[in-house]
Amino acid sequence: MQKQESQDLFKKILGNYPTGVTIVTTTTESGKPVGLTVSSFASVSLDPLMVLWSIDHGVSTLKEFTEGGKFAIHVLAEDQTELCRTFASKNVDRFSSCDWKMSSNGLPIIDGAFGVLECTTFKAIEAGDHTVLIGEVKNLTVNEKKDPMLYHRRVFGSIPEEFYKQKQPVS
Ligand SMILES: Cc1cc2nc3c(=O)[nH]c(=O)nc-3n(C[C@H](O)[C@H](O)[C@H](O)COP(=O)(O)O)c2cc1C
Repeated sequence: MQKQESQDLFKKILGNYPTGVTIVTTTTESGKPVGLTVSSFASVSLDPLMVLWSIDHGVSTLKEFTEGGKFAIHVLAEDQTELCRTFASKNVDRFSSCDWKMSSNGLPIIDGAFGVLECTTFKAIEAGDHTVLIGEVKNLTVNEKKDPMLYHRRVFGSIPEEFYKQKQPVS
């Protein structure tokens, strides 16, 4: 198979894999908040608590994330679609478009997420055109009044009610 053909198939398969969406934040050396929209988030380990995500080498704040030693992952709520777009858009002041505060761990925490995981970097692994960042979770919070956002085929939204009807959850 030609490289282009396999890349197209790769995008088709991965683009059809339903995920949630996160915003990952950290700071610059001078303490300025930075962040971006990320869907490559996944669970890694329960003991100790570990997660991963991958950052494209073209991201403007690559150095802050790969060398900063810590980051906060916000699992977005269904009502945060605008924020999700903002943190994936160029030439906008991302942090003036939302309410946020600095945590005691020195990480920018955006209000209104479904869940937040504050992490220290366990490992950064170069992998092709991305770096995989594995984080050890140091603090976590959940807002159980909210539901998480769903992302599929470049569309963000709520998980439809019908999805749960007559379906057997895995025990
Ligand atoms: C739904 C969605 C998921 C994304 N997932 C990732 C991701 O996992 N890793 C990544 O590096 N960029 C991801 N991006 C792209 C970045 O959010 C986007 O390129 C952002 O503008 C990068 O920050 P920068 O403008 O500071 O370079 C995603 C974008 C969207 C809309």
